[in-house]
Amino acid sequence: MTHASYPALRMRRGRSAPWIRDLLAEHRLHPSDLILPLFVCDGADCGEPIASLPGVSRWSVDRIAGQAKAAAALGIPCVALFPNTPAALRTERAEEALNPDNLLCRAIKAIKDAVPGIGVLTDVALDPYTAHGHDGLVDDRGCVLNDDTVAILAEQALVQAAAGADIVAPSDMMDGRVGAIRAALEGGGYCDVAIMAYAAKYASAFYGPFRDAVGSAGRLKGDKRGYQMDPANGAEALREVALDIAEGADMVMVKPGLAYLDVVAAVKARFGVPTFAYAVSGEYAMIEAAAAAGAGDRDALILETLLAFKRAGATGVLTYHALDAARLIGR
Ligand code: PBG
Repeated sequence: MTHASYPALRMRRGRSAPWIRDLLAEHRLHPSDLILPLFVCDGADCGEPIASLPGVSRWSVDRIAGQAKAAAALGIPCVALFPNTPAALRTERAEEALNPDNLLCRAIKAIKDAVPGIGVLTDVALDPYTAHGHDGLVDDRGCVLNDDTVAILAEQALVQAAAGADIVAPSDMMDGRVGAIRAALEGGGYCDVAIMAYAAKYASAFYGPFRDAVGSAGRLKGDKRGYQMDPANGAEALREVALDIAEGADMVMVKPGLAYLDVVAAVKARFGVPTFAYAVSGEYAMIEAAAAAGAGDRDALILETLLAFKRAGATGVLTYHALDAARLIGR
């Protein structure tokens, strides 16, 4: 009978030197695990720092491809684009979302022209285009209208696909939008454009700096709890994911990231589909603040948290630390 208890089995043998720790590592970070979110602003030759996201800037269309090029050079396979629409173009009904020459579409083309090998993921939601900052159309009582919004989102996805988006990522949490977008893409001849569904997106306090970055923070009336998920719920996330897969999602996302690793793990275990996590703006800001306060080593905090996503089963991570992380991994 084999009986490998102490002292026959000493777990520390496996931790005794760098080579054996490397050999026994169950998970590894690679630059190809990362998606870099980029913010786009109007104007020319512009890189505007975002105060609540130290180290992150908005880039004008003429400079955005430089960021994508840097990402590609580090082995990052994909960027995610978010526009800061000029205030004058934000309306009740978000018409600018459907303008084929809007900031986002110009940024997609600039990147596709300059860096054809990198994937471009675009956000499908109306919040960067609405005067009220909600992800959809609102009625007189301020309630976000589901089906009217979905019809616009499907058109928005088509506009993004026509501009060259490779993956459209609905982040709005309307019911039925994945199916509507899939049907619109097939009907429009964009059968190769993939859908990454923000399937389990929570009404989170961690989105603050992002709303500054896209200029929706001061506008938002009320909150998004009528469409984004309640942080109290885990089983509900599995129902959301099941629906999005049934409607044609190629991959799913859980968001935010660190506080929802249980959901990432459960989704991956249950469905086995490509499962992404979004380390959102507030998570980035938290790490930067901790490092600035001397509460931890910045590089180590970045790598440890990203590795946690892999351990939980994530296929990849959207992170504002992508460039730094890819550099650190490459060392
Ligand atoms: C909105 C959207 C949000 C984020 C991505 N898309 C914010 C929100 O729902 O209010 C958050 C990303 C981040 O915080 O980094 N459609």
